[in-house]
Amino acid sequence: MRSLRWGEFAHTAIHKMATVKPGESLLILADTWTDMDIAEACLTAGMNAGALAQLLVIPRMAPTDTTEFNASITGAMVGADVIIGLCPTMFMEKDAIRQAREQGARVTATDVTGMEEFAIEGISNVDYELMDEIAVKIGKIWEKTRHCRVTSELGTDISFSLLGRPIDIGNGIVSEPGQSNFFPGVSVANAPIEDTINGKLVVDGNIPPGRLVKAPVVVTLESGVITDIEGGADAAALRAHFAQSGDPIATHLCHFTLGLNPRARTTGSVHQDEHVLGAITFGFGEQDPGFGGNVPECGVHCDLVLTTGTIECDGTVMCKDNVLNEDLGLGGLA
Ligand SMILES: [Fe+2]
Repeated sequence: MRSLRWGEFAHTAIHKMATVKPGESLLILADTWTDMDIAEACLTAGMNAGALAQLLVIPRMAPTDTTEFNASITGAMVGADVIIGLCPTMFMEKDAIRQAREQGARVTATDVTGMEEFAIEGISNVDYELMDEIAVKIGKIWEKTRHCRVTSELGTDISFSLLGRPIDIGNGIVSEPGQSNFFPGVSVANAPIEDTINGKLVVDGNIPPGRLVKAPVVVTLESGVITDIEGGADAAALRAHFAQSGDPIATHLCHFTLGLNPRARTTGSVHQDEHVLGAITFGFGEQDPGFGGNVPECGVHCDLVLTTGTIECDGTVMCKDNVLNEDLGLGGLA
């Protein structure tokens, strides 16, 4: 039955995520690993929306491939009003996309592989507006939080200040020129103040390169930087990951993220795992300038996901056991 629902996915992607308007030049971007049924469903939905829609299929590029796109691919991107990416190729950081966004293009993306059910249910069968409202409320609390503490039954105990740091809401929706985002959302994130970050994370969810741990990994941080990684084979793999990156900034904590989508499940797909309601993600390495943080430039980025935990903001519980505190106005997601 899932294949019958790609039309529903495509309609939501076109109208709700990319906010496509009649007459706009719409580029659907696929690569050689994209399921063409999905790409064609989006092309059809784009044409039905009255857009000047086209589908571009590029050779799939490995995540570590830093090659820029050639002139014809770049031309298609720079000429578009709106781009929807449906591929594992990590195109968002390419120079062509930077140029397209400078020209006003809106860009939103997903890679449904390995999270097909969530890709459909997470945008079509969920109260998206409520997720967005709650993300905004959480953001307002975080901006005033001097002491945020995250704990878990497995032993996580880390604290930091969030005071004054800007909020980033990842909802996948692009409605203004130059915006970029990923879907399905919604998550809310910011960058803890680096030198206030101290404690330990017991990671029981996703670790690089995007898989679930077999046993928890204990990560110790001092002043925002990883100083120790303990555990079994997964800890050794994580230590090797950072060592192979060759960049000492790769171990600097650069964002703190809370997942809000009640349709997301922990499966080993990093995008879905991060969006599980109440999942807590800590990012390391390359920091988006929008976070307004002080992490030095870095060429690599990775995420460590806790499947659950308790978040306290200046002594008030915001989230515990994957349930948001209704007393803070955060109830209703199901
Ligand atoms: Fe991240």
